[in-house]
Amino acid sequence: MDLSLTGKRAIVTGGTRGIGRAIVEQLAREGTSVALCARTASAVSEAVASLKAHGVSAFGSALDVRDGQAFAAWFEGAVRDLGGLDIAISNVSTRPEQQGEAAWREAFETDFLQHVRMSNLALPHLQQGRDPAMLFVSSIASVLTTLPPGEDGYGTMKAALISLTGQLAAKYGSKGVRVNAVSPGPILFQGGVWDQIRSAHPSLFDRAAALSALGRHGRPEEVADAVVFLVSPRASYITGANLRIDGAAVKSVNF
Ligand SMILES: NC(=O)c1ccc[n+]([C@@H]2O[C@H](COP(=O)([O-])OP(=O)(O)OC[C@H]3O[C@@H](n4cnc5c(N)ncnc54)[C@H](OP(=O)(O)O)[C@@H]3O)[C@@H](O)[C@H]2O)c1
Repeated sequence: MDLSLTGKRAIVTGGTRGIGRAIVEQLAREGTSVALCARTASAVSEAVASLKAHGVSAFGSALDVRDGQAFAAWFEGAVRDLGGLDIAISNVSTRPEQQGEAAWREAFETDFLQHVRMSNLALPHLQQGRDPAMLFVSSIASVLTTLPPGEDGYGTMKAALISLTGQLAAKYGSKGVRVNAVSPGPILFQGGVWDQIRSAHPSLFDRAAALSALGRHGRPEEVADAVVFLVSPRASYITGANLRIDGAAVKSVNF
């Protein structure tokens, strides 16, 4: 199936590894120009070079998305570099480094407010775009009642993000912009959170694999393929959706 993504222009936060990296690689393979950001400059340069090898324009900057001013300046510059915006994918999450109320504030800042900021920046440009789409990367943590220690704020904010997705879809549908979310289950890649859990807590790692009806963790490419479809013109009647990509790890019927 031709996804009709050739010549499209996308901004993706956190595109240097894991799910974000798989998304930008897949978009570039489909002929979409990409601007990405992450904190580690060397990883940004490496990712941009890899994307350019697909023959598309690629831009990247090292910054912390929690710095609202720096993020806004980068975002507007990225839209200029790309010559407009058709696709915005808000992917970054940061593990809380603090405890107690400070950890909740941190989760609110990174796993919710940052996505609101990105939508506020993206939506005016998307309305001028071609078959425009916005997508948020949530998590099955949004619906789990039992989460690992320190992840209560993460799960709560990921749930709020799905609510935001539905609200924005309703508000911007008449302006031609589709807004969707995906909720991955445990996704394994080198250096990622589940790679670390495999070393530090092997029994938790095995339990997560066994939870899936497929008996294994997912791969970033398996999330990226669904994301790239959802932001493509081929998903033209899908908006306000939250797609679980978890190998049926969540034990409820997915109404
Ligand atoms: N992995 C999973 O099992 C899983 C499951 C469900 C949902 N998710 C969601 O999927 C998304 C991606 O997670 P992931 O596990 O694939 O990758 P990740 O290891 O969380 O890294 C994501 C990317 O974001 C960048 N990043 C992190 N914090 C940043 C910040 N404050 N400012 C700018 N860039 C930042 C990272 O680069 P730098 O570190 O260099 O900044 C990297 O490029 C997240 O929203 C996560 O909640 C993941």
